[in-house]
Amino acid sequence: DTPSRIALRGDLLDFTADPGFAAPAGAPGVRFRPGHWLLVADGRIAGVQADAPDASWQRVDHAGKLLLPGFIDTHVHSPQLDVIASYGTELLEWLNTYTFPAERRFADPEVAVAGAERFLDGLLAHGTTSAVVFPTVHKHSADALFAGAERRGMRIIAGKILMDRHAPDGLRDDVRQAERDCVDLIQRWHGRARLAYALTVRFAPTSTSAQMQMAAALIEAHPGTYMQTHVAENKDEVRWVAELFPEARSYLDVYHRHRLLNERSVLAHGVWLDDTDRVLLRETGAQIAHSPSSNLFLGSGLFDWLGAEGQGAHVSMASDVGGGTSLSMIRTLADAYKIQALRGVKLTAWKALYSATRGAARALHLDDEIGSFDVGRHADVAVWDWAHTPVMQHRVDLAQDLHEKLFAWMTLGDERLLEAAYVAGVPRYHRRP
Ligand code: GUN
Ligand code: ZN
Repeated sequence: DTPSRIALRGDLLDFTADPGFAAPAGAPGVRFRPGHWLLVADGRIAGVQADAPDASWQRVDHAGKLLLPGFIDTHVHSPQLDVIASYGTELLEWLNTYTFPAERRFADPEVAVAGAERFLDGLLAHGTTSAVVFPTVHKHSADALFAGAERRGMRIIAGKILMDRHAPDGLRDDVRQAERDCVDLIQRWHGRARLAYALTVRFAPTSTSAQMQMAAALIEAHPGTYMQTHVAENKDEVRWVAELFPEARSYLDVYHRHRLLNERSVLAHGVWLDDTDRVLLRETGAQIAHSPSSNLFLGSGLFDWLGAEGQGAHVSMASDVGGGTSLSMIRTLADAYKIQALRGVKLTAWKALYSATRGAARALHLDDEIGSFDVGRHADVAVWDWAHTPVMQHRVDLAQDLHEKLFAWMTLGDERLLEAAYVAGVPRYHRRP
């Protein structure tokens, strides 16, 4: 049993506002409270204070550790831990060679359950407590993911993949059966515990217009449901979509024409968008789940983050495992910095960490639940070491200010830094001694 009142001490870092692309020293929204106590009552944050709380609180002293809100991964594929780090292909060949065969194995419910458990434990072991997830086309793979997330108390948004064409046997559904499956999953999981349903159009090439219309109708019929998909990731993919939907102005416009863009739409990648698309993102409130590791690994391209935000689009951070090569949001952020460096843009540690915490929460309309240490939020907390090797310790120790220290932490760090993860105040991961 977990006590209803616990207090965690450490160096608390979170954000009160978007630091934007301001220089590190002048960036707004950074809140650092070293050596403070985070008070957690009934799974929610009850306050932060410098003094030790009284004996009615069970104290857990993480002094000298960095405490961050649990990371939010806004786009990741649970079955693709089986194909992470697969050699030598770009997107379309990668899907056919590695990914579709792996996802087909999830037709076996035992494989799907084991895969969901491995995936959720993997998220926690990387300090990620919330995620927007693609399982497979199989209904039971969504069930397995939701059930595992409920047992762990995690905030998960997911839904069975919709895919009724251009996919191999064993991975296609059809409009009517998919509709029945989605309705049943929505009724059983949407709004239960910390779960929400996302209508999950894999991407425009693998859904017919009829299937996308069905998804849009379900979104309209079930308030609070999300929509997740991929958009404009790879140049060959963009060409294919233009052939399949010649009437659409752009790839993004295919989704818009099918009424799939709204403030709960999460679109992975968006590497090959234009300004008209970016304005459409702002107007609809849809967000881009930027997936830097995947974009580098699959050779997809360099995302124009500044362009997207310049037009008012929301951008959150995603691992996109298994196109991405790590569940670690720290490694993902380091990749994001390097992509922006190639574009001549400087990404601060503040903006990077914001985008994987409060920024993602805000884009998902969940900032009253996750993403910060504000009072009333669920106590999803990751406890990190400041360094895990002598070289890293040396570099962090030399830092002259907090940004320099966090930037070195983000650039040199990974999941080996994680000591513990709490979900709604309950310890759910602890590093082996
Ligand atoms: N586009 C359609 N499916 C996928 C997928 O599984 N991963 C990535 N990165 N892009 C996709
Ligand atoms: Zn993806």
